Amino acid sequence: MKKSFCLLTLSFLFFFTACKKDLDSPSPLYVIQKAATADKAMVVSAHPLATKVGVDILSQGGNAFDAAIGVQFALAVVYPVAGNIGGGGFMVSRTQAGELATLDYREKAPAAAHRDMYLDSLGNVIKGLSINGHLAAGVPGSVDGMFKIFEKYSQLKDFKKLIEPSIVLAEEGFKVTAQQAKNLNNKQEAFKKCNTTMPVFVKDVPWKEGDLLQQTDLANTLKRIRDQGEAGFYEGETAELIIKEMQAGEGIISKEDLKNYDAVWRTPLSTDFKGFKVISMPPPSSGGIALTQLLEMVEPYPLAESGFQSKEAVHLITEAERRVYADRAKHLGDNDYYTVPMADLVAADYLKDRMQSFDPNTATSSDSIEAGVFEPKESEQTTHFSIIDPAGNAVSITTTINSGYGSKTVVSGAGFLLNNEMDDFSSKPGTPNFYGLLGAEANAIEPGKRMLSSMTPSILEKDGKLYMVVGTPGGSTIITSVFQTILNVTTFGMSMDEAVAAPRFHHQWKPNKIMVEKDAISAAHRKALEAMGHEFLERGSIGRVDAILVKPDGTLEGGADPRGDDHAAGF
Ligand code: DON
Repeated sequence: MKKSFCLLTLSFLFFFTACKKDLDSPSPLYVIQKAATADKAMVVSAHPLATKVGVDILSQGGNAFDAAIGVQFALAVVYPVAGNIGGGGFMVSRTQAGELATLDYREKAPAAAHRDMYLDSLGNVIKGLSINGHLAAGVPGSVDGMFKIFEKYSQLKDFKKLIEPSIVLAEEGFKVTAQQAKNLNNKQEAFKKCNTTMPVFVKDVPWKEGDLLQQTDLANTLKRIRDQGEAGFYEGETAELIIKEMQAGEGIISKEDLKNYDAVWRTPLSTDFKGFKVISMPPPSSGGIALTQLLEMVEPYPLAESGFQSKEAVHLITEAERRVYADRAKHLGDNDYYTVPMADLVAADYLKDRMQSFDPNTATSSDSIEAGVFEPKESEQTTHFSIIDPAGNAVSITTTINSGYGSKTVVSGAGFLLNNEMDDFSSKPGTPNFYGLLGAEANAIEPGKRMLSSMTPSILEKDGKLYMVVGTPGGSTIITSVFQTILNVTTFGMSMDEAVAAPRFHHQWKPNKIMVEKDAISAAHRKALEAMGHEFLERGSIGRVDAILVKPDGTLEGGADPRGDDHAAGF
């Protein structure tokens, strides 16, 4: 991409049911386990080879944190659509002793970023500029995040061991699944437009299932990280290559931005819901606050008696979601730069008041819902993985380069994709981003600020013990998918794999529509809901939830989402 930006390609990834295939035979390619049970340990991730890396590390005596580091790097190789070293993420964790932690390794706006950087001279948003190409990238946080986790929690204390399997996968290559071949084929034009040197993802003939994807440049970058630690990414040759790539386009990430990047330990958010403690991510994620609001808003109502996706349940959930996303658009942003009224947003009285306008028989118009007003006090590609180790430590990580293959720009010579996370900022109040989300001052672009996220890695406790590890990709639908998965287990009595596979729906205030998967909500209930004033919009799959449930006898039940190649395994 030279002096122009790549055109917006409106291609969300639509996931389809993965084939169940044999891991050891060359074709069919992989055994994909959607429901797994295990006595002691479990890994659920978006790719069978990444799950295997995690399980191998656990078998060698690594803890859940070691396995998480291994899985993050493995996904950067075998799941390039979202797995990354060029992006960022959040970790929510719980040690076997009950110590909770949340790590924010979200990307940051480069120092040269400014609030109008995606606007033309008339003040209109330039389509695609924050989505494709060099200018869309925030300063990557994933590598620093992995080192922060390693320093605080590693049991193996040998970083080389954790990254080595990914180096092998990148160097020797792996066979792409049918879904991966399809996704790579869909993005060929975008890759060509966004790169001056053609990356390994570009091929003369279409990708097909079983083709080998070898990533030598990426292997060399991973080796520099292995040998030099963080400096192998944020300084030296890799940093030089990133800067050179920035100069090949119109990118603004500088050497100082890379050197200054710092992942941050945040204070976990938690709420009580029907006897469960739900622990999730604070800002710059909107996930924890929104999930807390949703759970508290529906808690007083007899959802279990109403039944899964009954007219009453869908109506209640939709009305709660509508109100929560209105708050998200106005009040949520990076708390380091904008004071998010966190306590006000989750106050019991406020949430009760918010549901005063809930009418059990009629849909509320989104135009009549505004964000809550508080007294000023002082002034869709991502991927999720869930891990539990034999000692009972739990890690919930959602990581992303934003939309599928991020900015589509690969750092030439370094072999990794840059994120397009800058689009998660509000480029202009009132103009929706890639996920149709609106934003305001709270989420305006500022140098060094983190863009607002919906990623909601979460952990549940019951009676003071670990109960569930859960999360998903899906852009704006992340929060509602995590919310509905939690309800499926805690309220509708589903097993982990049933809860993950169950069809989902989503409302985000604006547009004023219930987005539904094809199989969600029966025709009769849809008709009844339409009579109450709801409108439906059928769309492709919503989220890809990977989760683990701890059964009363201590055994583990893994649920890998059938919407993708996601795979659950344990021992
Ligand atoms: O942080 C966020 O909310 C988005 N960048 C997540 C993007 C995503 O989930 C795309 N996956 N389908």
